[in-house]
Amino acid sequence: MNQLTDTFKLYNGARIPGVGFGTWQIPSGETTVNSVKKAIEAGYRHIDTAADYGNEGSVGQAIKESGVNREDLFLTSKLWNTDRGYEETKAAFEETVKKLGTDYLDLYLIHFPANAAQYDNWNEINLETWKAMTELYQAGKIKAIGVSNFKIHHLESLVQTEVKPMVNQIEYHAGFTQDEVVDYSKNHDILVEAWSPIGSGRLLENESLKEIAQKYDKTVAQLCIRYVLQNDILPLPKSVTPERIEENTHLFDFEITDEDMKAIDAMENIGYSGMDPDEIDF
Ligand SMILES: NC(=O)c1ccc[n+]([C@@H]2O[C@H](COP(=O)([O-])OP(=O)(O)OC[C@H]3O[C@@H](n4cnc5c(N)ncnc54)[C@H](OP(=O)(O)O)[C@@H]3O)[C@@H](O)[C@H]2O)c1
Repeated sequence: MNQLTDTFKLYNGARIPGVGFGTWQIPSGETTVNSVKKAIEAGYRHIDTAADYGNEGSVGQAIKESGVNREDLFLTSKLWNTDRGYEETKAAFEETVKKLGTDYLDLYLIHFPANAAQYDNWNEINLETWKAMTELYQAGKIKAIGVSNFKIHHLESLVQTEVKPMVNQIEYHAGFTQDEVVDYSKNHDILVEAWSPIGSGRLLENESLKEIAQKYDKTVAQLCIRYVLQNDILPLPKSVTPERIEENTHLFDFEITDEDMKAIDAMENIGYSGMDPDEIDF
């Protein structure tokens, strides 16, 4: 990968620009519109939003105002937890595309699996939801479908369906790499996307990361995003700060050595969000 718009190829042949712009916690309105427009201006062609973020309308507005054609952008949204189920998923999808001002999505993800802590029939709920996602995909309304925050036991029944997930978006960053679910996903041709590639900012003051970043004359944010890419995982950095949005695109003029990759691999348990998909109660 040599530039922001180089792509990963999903198993169905769809191509996905290798770095996406994250929009979690960006308030709807001016802040989202300006941040997404700035990201597109800086070269991002892949935007990651979700119904739960409450900013789909503003993301749609930014896309319109950007002057870049819809078909030249890769747009992801996610189905929220209160909309799981067959009919509910179809209705939520329509609501999402309406808010985004588009008639299709490039990628639609189940935001969180139904879990055993909340539902006896959690697997059934996930399969019903997946059935609706599959039908929307087969109808051509979504170019690729996937999941988010799914662990191996959540994925096991979905990979046996007619259309298995193409993407699993999980928390992944230096200090928290979830190797087992990453290996399982990769072994099933499921692309892994990294949410919080800089640990939502929690990695920025880490002394070891600072030291390594300095060697390359890069910032910790750039090092962390590059670390994800070098592991063949798709990073989704977020920022509302124009200079940082720009900074986070300068990832292709350095390469982390094997030795430094190993040193980062060895940094366990830093920056973890604490959000375990098996334990969430929302
Ligand atoms: N599927 C899920 O459940 C899930 C969960 C979490 C996140 N996500 C996705 O993943 C995306 C990224 O995750 P994230 O938003 O948690 O965090 P992140 O990208 O790891 O970190 C964002 C934080 O780092 C700061 N930052 C960004 N670039 C910087 C730089 N170059 N220098 C200094 N600070 C910098 C940002 O500050 P400013 O914004 O103030 O500049 C913000 O506070 C989300 O936006 C969302 O799209 C998905």
